[in-house]
Amino acid sequence: MTTMSTANSTSFPAPSSTPASTPASASDAKAAAQRAIAWLEANEEASIERWIDWLRIPSISTDPAFKGQCRRAAEWASEQLRELGFASELCETGKVAENGTGSGHPIVLATIEGSKDYKGPHVLFYGHYDVQPCDPMELWESPPFEPVVREARKGEEGGKRIIARGAVDDKGQVMMFLEALRAWKETSGHATNGARITVLLEGEEESGSANLEPFVMSRKKQLEATDVCLISDTGMLGRKSPAITYGVRGLAYTEITLHAANQDLHSGLWGGRCPNPLTELARVLAQLHDKNRKVTIQKFYDDVLPLSKKERDNWKRLKFNAASALKKIGLKKDADIGEKGFTALEREWGRPTAEINGMWGGYTGAGAKTVIPAKASAKVSFRLVANQDPAKITKMFFKWLKDRTPPGCRWELADHHGGHGVTVPIDCEHLAAASRAVKRATGRTPDLIKSGGSIPVAGMLKARLGLDTIFMGFGLDDDRVHSPNEKFELECFRMGARSHAWLLAELGEE
Ligand code: BES
Ligand code: MN
Ligand code: MN
Repeated sequence: MTTMSTANSTSFPAPSSTPASTPASASDAKAAAQRAIAWLEANEEASIERWIDWLRIPSISTDPAFKGQCRRAAEWASEQLRELGFASELCETGKVAENGTGSGHPIVLATIEGSKDYKGPHVLFYGHYDVQPCDPMELWESPPFEPVVREARKGEEGGKRIIARGAVDDKGQVMMFLEALRAWKETSGHATNGARITVLLEGEEESGSANLEPFVMSRKKQLEATDVCLISDTGMLGRKSPAITYGVRGLAYTEITLHAANQDLHSGLWGGRCPNPLTELARVLAQLHDKNRKVTIQKFYDDVLPLSKKERDNWKRLKFNAASALKKIGLKKDADIGEKGFTALEREWGRPTAEINGMWGGYTGAGAKTVIPAKASAKVSFRLVANQDPAKITKMFFKWLKDRTPPGCRWELADHHGGHGVTVPIDCEHLAAASRAVKRATGRTPDLIKSGGSIPVAGMLKARLGLDTIFMGFGLDDDRVHSPNEKFELECFRMGARSHAWLLAELGEE
């Protein structure tokens, strides 16, 4: 936005007495951004208070017991956006989806008109206000919804942090953006510095986003008017290496059960005479990978694009050390295993994987019980890259299982949720703007990284609305997302808030 001209201007847009042809100088625009940055620094305590307010609301989307709390978290965010000058609605979504995911949590949709002379992109900011369940509870050092701000302890890397469920994923990362808006509003009178922005905050991201696509389609006209999606729900390689993520993997998630006898059996009387579903399930799933740890499902790699030499070279130049990453999770270098022929980063960012996420059946209580269970189950998921289609992969996997049905057994197969991966072309102009913003905010050129995690909305927006997504997030690998003692370090939060504030200055320059 180039019309901001005076250091103490409090109204927006710029007074109409300013002739439209007067080019405000770049230094005025820079000074305006610096005022926003200074505000962030001076008002950090209040920012943290607001952040803590939101974190106190236990918005666990997957658990029906927290339905009311999810709505409260949505209302809280909607109210913030209204305060910032957005027209904000709480949109009701469908009921529980057929597969039992979606819970009908509301979506926050808010828009702010840009200034008349805004020439930059209409940005769609996406985030989620829901969080993962907290179990196992006993491992939390403080209650998950009573946020604690504390210094790092002995043996912990990094500095001051907030500990709470949702500290980083995704309330903390959304908060960086909200506080950047507030900084602009307080210092220049307009929360987006004149940019046209729509905000969409979802409440079912952590439980499959069953209602998101129907919602987006029902608002297609409105959302189609946006030019690019901005998401801060991602991470960086280290505390001192801010990053722009240019791709995330897709996901196909299944639950499978192998049935045999119509009842549990005495393992002495029946062992050796009939199938044991646990043993048979383990035998089948052990065939998922070959000796080079490649997935053995036929055609699984058909839609995978090979990594280019250039991309592999770029990744090699990043400051990433597989051994020290392993050390943080209690492993040594010999644990650096995965698909043969690829480095750890290549395996995480550029290759698909198959994982068993859970496996159960039979007797798992204390002591011993000699039993052959009637059934055995597993949660099996696939991380996908490039053009792999989750629905197609799930179909392939189910066929693969059926082709291996153990004698006397039958499968019960369920498709949970999934999403396409995405890659953003790195020469995209919006990505360049984000990169400049991060550079200004942190003094460092951001790494161009990918992530092995999944943010299904990005693939959906690409497919449905043709939107690319810029991922500008500030999480760390050791933030314990989805685990007990989730944290977000204040220094990361600061980098994020400042980067978003600078991005608001950059958008009008695109
Ligand atoms: N924010 C995460 C994903 C993420 C984390 C991406 C770090 C990049 C860097 C998101 O909330 C998440 O947990 N996604 C799930 C998938 C979802 C469908 C439950 C995932 O990746 O497992
Ligand atoms: Mn997230
Ligand atoms: Mn998550």
